[in-house]
Amino acid sequence: MILVTGGAGYIGSHTCIELARAGHEFVVFDNFSNSAPAVLARMEQIIGRPVVWQQGDIRDPAALDKVFAVHPVSAVLHFAGLKAVTESISQPIDYFDNNVHGSIALMGAMARAGCKTLVFSSSATVYGPEQPMPVAEDAPCAVSNPYGRTKLVVEDLLNELGRSDPQWRIATLRYFNPTGAHPSALIGESPLGTPSNLMPLVCQVAAGIRPSLQIFGDDYPSHDGTGVRDFVHVMDLAEGHVAALDFLTKNQARIVVNLGTGHGTSVLEVIRTFERVSGQRVPYEIVPRRDADIGISFADVSLARELLGWVAKRDVDEMCRDAWRWQAANRG
Ligand code: UD1
Repeated sequence: MILVTGGAGYIGSHTCIELARAGHEFVVFDNFSNSAPAVLARMEQIIGRPVVWQQGDIRDPAALDKVFAVHPVSAVLHFAGLKAVTESISQPIDYFDNNVHGSIALMGAMARAGCKTLVFSSSATVYGPEQPMPVAEDAPCAVSNPYGRTKLVVEDLLNELGRSDPQWRIATLRYFNPTGAHPSALIGESPLGTPSNLMPLVCQVAAGIRPSLQIFGDDYPSHDGTGVRDFVHVMDLAEGHVAALDFLTKNQARIVVNLGTGHGTSVLEVIRTFERVSGQRVPYEIVPRRDADIGISFADVSLARELLGWVAKRDVDEMCRDAWRWQAANRG
């Protein structure tokens, strides 16, 4: 049985679908602070069987002990956490409490239960601004906001934990820019309030919820001047997690691995692709660069291929198509 913290959230829910497809049993543990129990019913529709779940907060040791007591958990996929960079700047305590304290409580409960296999959601944000691209896992880390700091602190903690007790098997996965949705359009990304990431904003502009998209800067050293990112389909990420889990089952190891496609796509290319596959217009205006944005970011994905045998299969067309299908079916 695999414990999935944050299993009703964006990446967690899609990974549960892939776990089910790969024949794994799983239990979702979620406090629904940034997700809804209704997602569980949608997941059940997709996988065709009931989803086992327990409502709880990773900062609550008793709730964690209960989930380990009730279910024979052999490994944990740890997605639960807060993830909005801007919010993290205004609410650093909440971010450290949820992401760092929560992860420590989870590691404690795992140790008490004798479960020492963990896949952790980290982010390419840990690489900082000045890296040559593509960026590999051994690049120096430098974070510039509390959200990124919480990810790096937990990465450090996991390193120390592994050093203290080599029985721990740990995969730290550094995601590039997750996007898209399950092709059924039953689950997808549901940002609360105003989204800050590109694809949800593109979707809302296409749906007429917002009049136009602001492109933050057209003076970056890219072919069209707009920012470049390594967008990766959430279903590819889901498959990457299952591959990491399989790797840890076979190897007593600690690994840090990028999950991206290895290809950069510019903001303008995303807009043009989205318009083509959705048939919708996405009006935009060019505005100055966003504070603290980096220009170009894409992954060196050789380690993921070598260690996990994982390669992202879905292209930006598919990401845009699935994001739009989800938007059109669910959010107006
Ligand atoms: C952001 C977070 C990062 C997080 C990642 C994935 C920041 C500084 N970084 O990264 O920590 O891991 O999301 O969730 O917030 N863009 C526009 N107009 C918009 C929105 C975005 O032009 O309205 C551009 C950005 O300038 C960037 C690209 O689109 O070039 C992607 O932006 P975004 O989706 O916010 O992701 P990141 O900045 O890569």
